[in-house]
Amino acid sequence: MLKCEGLKISFDKGTAHEKTVLQDLSFELQEGDFVTVIGENGSGKSTLLNCLSGTYLTDSGKILLDNEDVTLLPEYKRARKIGRLFQDPLRGTAPHLTVAENLALAYLRAAGHFHPFSRISAKDRQFFAERLKALDMGLETRLDDKVGQLSGGQRQAMTLLMATLVPPKLLLLDEHTAALDPQAEEKVSDLTRKIVEEHHITCLMVTHDMQRALDTGNRTFMMAGGKIIFELNEEEKKTLSVQDLLVRFREASGRNLASDRILLG
Ligand SMILES: Nc1ncnc2c1ncn2[C@@H]1O[C@H](COP(=O)(O)OP(=O)(O)O)[C@@H](O)[C@H]1O
Ligand SMILES: [Mg+2]
Repeated sequence: MLKCEGLKISFDKGTAHEKTVLQDLSFELQEGDFVTVIGENGSGKSTLLNCLSGTYLTDSGKILLDNEDVTLLPEYKRARKIGRLFQDPLRGTAPHLTVAENLALAYLRAAGHFHPFSRISAKDRQFFAERLKALDMGLETRLDDKVGQLSGGQRQAMTLLMATLVPPKLLLLDEHTAALDPQAEEKVSDLTRKIVEEHHITCLMVTHDMQRALDTGNRTFMMAGGKIIFELNEEEKKTLSVQDLLVRFREASGRNLASDRILLG
């Protein structure tokens, strides 16, 4: 489904600040794999997602998505197959458009129609209302409200719905609940699990919450220094604790995990 071979990327090449951020990174995902990705700040998690989405092109290595070599494919050409959410809940929706208009745009985009729509049919509205109701955030009654009036949690739930209205081949989530208040974080995390599992979406989810990383999905990657230093399978995720993860980190890297917010999650 997704195959990455020997991905490597450096920034500020040829300067004194040259920095290799991904080094010889390889992994493979099967259809429906739901992988949580953890690791210290600066370990390359966001860069990996940026390379998969085509935001950055790698210096070397190969990316096969859905049997297609996308290594050199620009971002906009990958976008139809790849859904993406960022930490900032303002990033995925258009604030001056209504809830229904945002959903209609997402739907047209995913379906490959880029022409502007003239009106949203009653059938569309019903479809949107049904999908919004499943979010359980009261959004089904707010189809005509501007998205800018919604809370951060509601906006991120909307973005999640928009990214999955037509299930993408690959969903990339980059700490997409980290900027929300605890209650909204819990809610959007639960929704994520529900939607990804229901549609069997192949998904990479970066999180700083180690317990959540263990509880979510069927695989976990631990990144350090631009590599996946170990991975947990479904069985290990069920049996290991956060403490065990810290021990595994020490064994794999020879040092303790930096005691930043990753421990506080
Ligand atoms: N566009 C860029 N230019 C220069 N350095 C970058 C760029 N993107 C990421 N980096 C560097 O790559 C390293 C890894 O960053 P990142 O992938 O964002 O880490 P993480 O998401 O794991 O916290 C950091 O040192 C960061 O400064
Ligand atoms: Mg990051």
